Formats: sequence, structure tokens, C-alpha cells
Amino acid sequence: MSVPDKARRQAKALREQIDQHNYRYHVLDEPQIPDAEYDRLFRQLLKLEEQYPDLVTADSPTQRVGGEPLPGFAQVPHAVPMLSLDNAFSAEDIIAFDRRVRERLESEDEVAYAVEPKLDGMAISLRYEQGQFVQAATRGDGRTGEDVSHNVKTIPAVPMRLHGGGFPKVLEVRGEVYMPLAGFDAMNAAARKAGEKTFANPRNATAGSLRQLDPRVAARRPLTMFVYGVGEVSGGELPATHSETLQRLAEWGLRVCPENQVVVGATGCIDYFERIGERRHALAYEIDGVVCKVDDYALQRELGFVSRAPRWAIASKFPAQEELTVIKGVDWQVGRTGALTPVARLEPVNVGGVTVSNATLHNIDELERKDVRIGDTVSVRRAGDVIPEVVSVLKARRQNNAAPVRLPRRCPVCKSEVSRAEGEAVARCSAGLYCEAQRKEALKHFVSRKAMDIDGLGSKLIEQLVDEGLVRTPADLFNAQRINVESLAGLERMAEKSASNLVAAIDASRDVSLSRFLFALGIREVGEATAENLANHFGSLEALISSSDDMEALERVPDVGPIVAEHIRAFFSEEHNLQVLDQLTGPQGVRVRSVEIADDIEQEFAGITFVVTGTLASMTRDQAKAEIKQKGGKVSGSVSAKTGYLVYGEKAGSKLDKARQLGVELLNEDEFLNKLGRR
Ligand code: IVH
Repeated sequence: MSVPDKARRQAKALREQIDQHNYRYHVLDEPQIPDAEYDRLFRQLLKLEEQYPDLVTADSPTQRVGGEPLPGFAQVPHAVPMLSLDNAFSAEDIIAFDRRVRERLESEDEVAYAVEPKLDGMAISLRYEQGQFVQAATRGDGRTGEDVSHNVKTIPAVPMRLHGGGFPKVLEVRGEVYMPLAGFDAMNAAARKAGEKTFANPRNATAGSLRQLDPRVAARRPLTMFVYGVGEVSGGELPATHSETLQRLAEWGLRVCPENQVVVGATGCIDYFERIGERRHALAYEIDGVVCKVDDYALQRELGFVSRAPRWAIASKFPAQEELTVIKGVDWQVGRTGALTPVARLEPVNVGGVTVSNATLHNIDELERKDVRIGDTVSVRRAGDVIPEVVSVLKARRQNNAAPVRLPRRCPVCKSEVSRAEGEAVARCSAGLYCEAQRKEALKHFVSRKAMDIDGLGSKLIEQLVDEGLVRTPADLFNAQRINVESLAGLERMAEKSASNLVAAIDASRDVSLSRFLFALGIREVGEATAENLANHFGSLEALISSSDDMEALERVPDVGPIVAEHIRAFFSEEHNLQVLDQLTGPQGVRVRSVEIADDIEQEFAGITFVVTGTLASMTRDQAKAEIKQKGGKVSGSVSAKTGYLVYGEKAGSKLDKARQLGVELLNEDEFLNKLGRR
């Protein structure tokens, strides 16, 4: 079929727009349009290309998404080898490196170094010819790597075409593909929930994704890339220094780490190493040190290489974050919702400068999957401020007498029964607030910063108050007969001054917004956002309580589905909880501020049942349902004569047909948005 000029122009314009938005989002981190708008452009291009397959170009954004699996990896020889780096483990090592550099250069002057974080991912070489992406290869043994183009193409931060002009005819760009921590954590959390295998760290997750033959796997993984150098360059020139080259690469649309700098001499390198070390855990990705490179290419050439590493660069490494040790026992901690967390007691071990003697095993499911036994040698990892975790067991070192760990039948704190719901990864103590451990955790949550925000009332103090029998429920905190300057000053490590400060802080917290108060109650699955939605929807505590056994009313609140609604219902049907609420808002004088709600617009859809089907461009189906419920409408999963409206998006199927047959009024996305008053 011949392709009309108009379609050709349209496809080209769409490709350019999509590339541009992709670049703004994934490289510059400055998105210009909402995701839904991006998706719309993308679908338009897909549709055009479907209609006119001749329009599909190799660099079209539609060609990134994973196609069919490959039979195997092709070998890629590296014309310019991909080298490794020598390591420095101390300031002295950096000073010695700088001395060697200056001796070889016979230079009296200080040397300028380009300094960069050492990214913990996988080294990849990207090959561009005439500005077009042609291949991505792993490092392999440094001389020959493997062709992973099919996977790297799915990484949105990797441009399929270089921006602007002036690039060499052949340009190999080298850098690190990695997985940002947030994406890694979310991916592991989802895997844990689904009972699937988790990755030990972001680097393994990256390597595991890139080594797949099936590109659809990599396409689902949150990978990105920073570039930090070049390989083969021909048919064009690059600037005279490494730092200017990186700038040029950024102009061509490649992603360069914003932490890169140029410093002077060994002192500059050491200073940078320390500064990055302090901020290391605030970065969005894992690094394991810094790399210092002589900035001037002419000097780099003069220095040359030794065996597999350049003389002009060094990797200064942070102390390891993962170490081996032995499990002495497993304790069970009881959380706010009764969840039992297995915690490994360890032979103390120094991990990256901190002595670790406990590490989490997350939950019983995870413990069983890793098959952790007492006496096992395990690998323990510490990352940032998070609790150290047991990553894996060295099965080869297992002794015959290693004892398996069993889930206790009774709560280690209150001795009530422990239950594990079918299909749940977590086991719980069934006693609720009658369990002292749960009570303590509930109180800690109640007073925490995003809840009642009582200054000076930390975890240790809550434990003391409960242990001393001064406090059992949140209401007791406000009871002046229990909590006063005298009773507090009698506690360990509590002076009169801090006691009276605390009394004042408790008093000040009496005036509280409904959303904070609801969050403070610690209802399962009711986080800050849901608490806020509940507050805005019901307006007052009384209104929420009186609707709390009406599941339909609860599910009308955005974000509240059947599970959350059930937790809310269960909370307010517990006599004990209602008593505490009565005491709080009655004798103990807590004033929960109501929210004004505009119910005239709210209830526009009252009594009307909607069915939503197909894919909407501007919102997910769940968002659409929440909007309908917000306006008082009902949402059903199936079309019947009682259906008021069928809202349909792309790829709507049998529900649309059925609605047509029954003569149900149909709303396409635009019409639906109109009805919501969004257009
Ligand atoms: S430069 C000849 N810069 O470290 C120079 N490497 O041991 C070669 N790496 O395989 C690399 N961050 O995966 C360079 N900013 C950075 C780096 C970096 C991480 C890795 C890279 C390489 C290994 C070298």
C-alpha cells in the first residue's frame, strides 16, 4: 500500500514529539506533558504504523518495546577495549595515584581531575552510526562483549537517535545501565507480595534484566543509564577534555550524571570522595565509590595503560556494604498490626563501618523461601538508613545440625494465637490491642510526626509509659491524672523541665485536623492519603462513624476499595475502639476539626450506576471509578438493564456490545470527562 504524504509527515512529527518528551522525562527529569498525553501520542503513532507498516522505522519509539525473544546472544568485538579500573581504598592510595600521574607526566603543576560517582550497575557500550543507535554491548571480557541491543533499546533514557548535529560518523558511548533504588524497592516489594523471587541488590537486578533473551522482561524493569565516556570514535572530533566531552554527550541527548565535577589535585579528589560519601545515601541510585580521571585527553594518551586498566584513572571505593556472618538465632518482633517479623540475631559483623548484630528476614514467607536455618552462614547487607537485611544463605557452608526456624504458634509477647491467612506472606498475632507489643506500636504511631505530632514523645518513652502502667490507650495520654509533671519526672532519664515540656506538647496536640486524627488511629491500610480522602468525604468523625458499616458509602471515597473498607468497618465495630474515641473526644478534650464538604456537587450522580470498560487515555479505570463514586454514583462490573451509563475507552469489548443491545446510554472518554465537568 502506498503511504500518503500526509501520513508520512504525521508519523515523522509524532516520532519527533515522542522522542522529545521521552528525553525531557527520562534524561532531563523535566516532563512537559502529563503521562496520559504522552500515551495518547504514542498510541496515535502505533495506529498510524499499524495502518501503514511501511512507516515503521528502526528508530521509531514504538520499536523500543520488547519484541520476540532471541535464540542467543551475538558476540560483539570491542574495537577499543572496555577496561577496568585500579582501586584505591584510602586517602593515601589517592595521593599515591596522583603522585604516579605527576611523575610520569614530569609535571610540577597540579593535575585537573574529572571526578564522578562510581555507579553500581552494568557497563554498556552504545554504538551510534550517523547519529543512529545501532548496537548495545556488554563489557564481557573487555575485548568481546555480548549484543544486548534488544534489551537496551527498551531503556527510555537511551536515545535511538542523537540530538542536534556535529557528532562523529561512528561514536561509541560508554556508561552504566542501572536501576534506581525506588524502582528496585518497588519491584522487590511486588515480587515479595506475589511470592516470586526477589533480587539481592539493584546491580543483580540490572544484570539479570540485561542478560535476558526476551526483551519483554527488560522492558518491564525500571532501568536507566548514565554515560561516562567514549570508545571508538571516527569520522569526527570530540573536545580536548573528558569533562567537555561529557557536556557534548549531554547535548546529544545522552544522560550524564549531574554529580560530575572537575577538581584539582589529590586534595580535590579526596574532598569530593568525602562529600559524595556523606550524601551517598541521599542519592536515588547506588554507588560504590568515586572515579577520578585525568581530565585532559592529551595527558591521558601520554599516560597510557597497564594491562587491563588505564594509568589516568582510579576508582576510590567505599567500604563494602555486604559481609558474611553466622546466624545465632531468630527472634520475632510484633508490629502495630500484629505482623510477626523474623529478625536474625547475628554474630556481630562490621558492615561498611557499622557493627551489625541484627538483620531483618522480612516475613515468614521470605524466611521459608531463603531457607534460613540457625547456624547458617549468611550474607548481610546494609544500605543507607534502612534496617540491615539477610540477603542470602551460603548453603555450601551449612552444617548438618543447622536447625530450621519455625513460626511460633503463640505470640512471643502476649501468648495469643498466631494466624497466617491463606495466601498471605505475613503471620499475625490475633490479639489486636490486647497484645502489649501491638499496643506500644499503636501508641508510637498515634503520637508520630505525621499523626498527632506530639513533640518529645519518642519510642523509648512510650515503652516506659506502657511498662510502668501509666498508659494503656491513646486516651490515657491525655488523662492528667496519669500523665503530669510529677508522674513523668519520676521516670528514668526524665528531668522536670522535659516533663513539663512534654505535658505542654500533649496539651497543644489536643487541637487536631480530622485527617491527622484518622491517620493516627492506625486503621489498617489507611495511610495519610486515604485518611485525607476520608476526611474530605465525610467531613466529621461522627459522619464517618455513622457510615462505617455501610460498605457502599465507604467505597465511594477515592482510593477506598473493598479491602480498605472492610478494615475501616472492622475498626469502628470494635467496642474497645469506640470507647477510646469517646474518651478522647469527651473527657480528655481532644478537638477534632471538621472539614466543610460541598455536598451539592458531590452527589450529582446519586442513584446512577456506571460501568467502565476498555482503556481510557486520561485516567486509569480505577481513577474513573473513584471519580464516579465521589459524585455519588455506583459502579458495577457488568452491564444490565439497570446500567445508567457505559463509559468506554479503547479496545472495549463485549460490554460495549451488550450495552448497545440493551440500549444503555454510551459515553466515550470525551463525553465522560464532560459529565465530570473536566472539559
Ligand atoms: S570509567 C577506562 N566511570 O567501573 C575507564 N567506570 O572497574 C573505564 N563504573 O566496568 C570506566 N561508574 O562498570 C568509569 N563513572 C564511571 C563509572 C565506571 C561505574 C564501572 C564500570 C566499569 C568499572 C571499572
